[in-house]
Parts: sequence; structure tokens; C-alpha cells
Amino acid sequence: MRLKSKIALLTGAAAAIKGELMGFGGAAAHLFVREGAKVILTDIRDDLGERAAAALRADGHDARYLHLDVTSEQNWAQVIDTVLKAHGRLDILFNNAGVSFPGKVEDLTVEIWDRELNVHAKGVFLGTRAAIPAMRKNGGGSIINTSSVMGIVGSPTSPAYSAAKGAITTFTKSAALQYAKENIRINSVHPGYADTPLTDRRFNDPTIRQQLLDRTPMGRLGTAEDIANGVLFLASDESSWVTGSELVIDGGMTAQ
Ligand SMILES: NC(=O)c1ccc[n+]([C@@H]2O[C@H](COP(=O)([O-])OP(=O)(O)OC[C@H]3O[C@@H](n4cnc5c(N)ncnc54)[C@H](O)[C@@H]3O)[C@@H](O)[C@H]2O)c1
Repeated sequence: MRLKSKIALLTGAAAAIKGELMGFGGAAAHLFVREGAKVILTDIRDDLGERAAAALRADGHDARYLHLDVTSEQNWAQVIDTVLKAHGRLDILFNNAGVSFPGKVEDLTVEIWDRELNVHAKGVFLGTRAAIPAMRKNGGGSIINTSSVMGIVGSPTSPAYSAAKGAITTFTKSAALQYAKENIRINSVHPGYADTPLTDRRFNDPTIRQQLLDRTPMGRLGTAEDIANGVLFLASDESSWVTGSELVIDGGMTAQ
């Protein structure tokens, strides 16, 4: 019970159905409830999210789904309000929603650039800003932001994604500095290539898969659970002296 009685809000967490391919948010939700947390799954894929929350409840867990477009200030205010009305507190925020539009710089449109920056950089900023007052009220909390290995090194395929993830990396450290004294810990997680709904189609192209495997020293791609285990550590009190850090989970990719 590493998260006993904690209230956890997760974004981009609709893919959370056992027996189907889960994303990092979905896998984290399963670990969180196993460890005693009450979870609020959010996403823009409402049907999937509702089904996932219902399945968690059927297994005896405390879970609900709320629509949350992370780029909407107003939507963030509504969701935090709903969480506080229902639970009276917020302990954990997993800022995890994401999109991915590969393309060479010359082929990138301003619309794609804006979308990448909005969902990742702006989404994480809005979520962090919305959660801080709620966390302050109960003496602290943990915010985990999903960056990427591409938020540390350059991406050969996705420059806008890499720029957006890089923004998350340094925003996380800046926010961590500002709220450390209030016991609000803010860390980033940096997954390498992992099989999830976001990457399913692309990573299952045999040529692309081989390229990714060649770049990954451990010789396999990651699973959503590989990442969720790191997120669980950052969410729990076991990481109580960890803030502003980059947790890389990438099978050795960025060690090269
Ligand atoms: N899978 C990988 O290899 C990999 C590697 C590094 C980082 N990431 C990052 O991990 C995070 C989770 O992705 P995943 O791979 O688990 O796939 P996923 O498809 O399970 O998660 C992404 C979710 O974000 C949601 N989303 C998109 N736009 C949104 C918006 N505006 N508001 C709210 N939700 C929105 C999608 O509906 C989707 O459910 C993303 O930030 C992604 O960039 C993934």
C-alpha cells in the first residue's frame, strides 16, 4: 500500500483496460489503485476512459473518469474543482497526455508545431498551475510530468515533439525549485521507445521496429508497465527527497 488513501489525477489515461494495449497513464492507474490510491482518469477519448474506469470499479477500486483536454484552462479548473468537491484533496498529478507528429523540419506546419507545444508544454504548465493550490492546502504533493528521451536528446524523426518535450524537462526543474519549500515535488519521467496505443501502428512497421531495437541497448522496446513503475516511485513517499529530477527509463538508449 505505497499510495494508501492518496488521491491521484492522471491525464491521457484512457487506455487503461486490462487485456488491451495500455498507455503509461493506464498502466500507472493500475499500479496506483493496487497501492491503495483513488484515481481520477482523464483524457479526451471519453468512451474508452469511461469503460476503463468502470472496469477498475468492477474490480473493487475507487476510480472515475472525467473529460479533460489538457490545453484548456477552463477544463482544468472544472476538473480540479470536481476532484476537490469529491475528495477534498489532491496528492498526485501525472501530467501524461501526449501526441506525436513526426516530420522533417521543412515539412512541419505551424499547426503541427502549435499542437505539439500546446498538448505537451502548455498542458503540463496548465496542469501544474491548477494543482499547486490544491496540493498546498494539504501540505504537499507529487507532480510527475511525462517528457521523453527526446526531451533530453534530439529526435531524428520528430523535431516539434522533441522541442515540446524539452520544454517539459526544464519547466519541471523550474517549478520544482519554486515549490520545493512547500513540499510539492515535481519530477519528469523520460521514457524511451515503448509499445503503447500512441506508438502501436508506427512501431509495428518491421523496418522501423528494427531501427528502434538497434538504438536500444537492452534489445527490447519498453512496456507501459516499465514506465509506470518509475512513475509509482515518484508518486509515492519513497521519493520524498526527490524533486526536479529526470527519471530516464529507456533500456539504455541515452547512455550511448
Ligand atoms: N510510447 C512511447 O514510446 C513514448 C516515449 C516517450 C514519451 N511518451 C509520452 O508518453 C505519454 C503517454 O503516451 P503513451 O505512449 O502512453 O500513449 P497513449 O496513447 O496511451 O497516451 C496518450 C493519451 O493522450 C491523450 N491526449 C491527446 N491529446 C490530448 C489532450 N489535448 N488532452 C488530453 N488528453 C490528450 C490521448 O487521447 C491518449 O489517450 C505521452 O506524453 C507521450 O508523448 C511515449
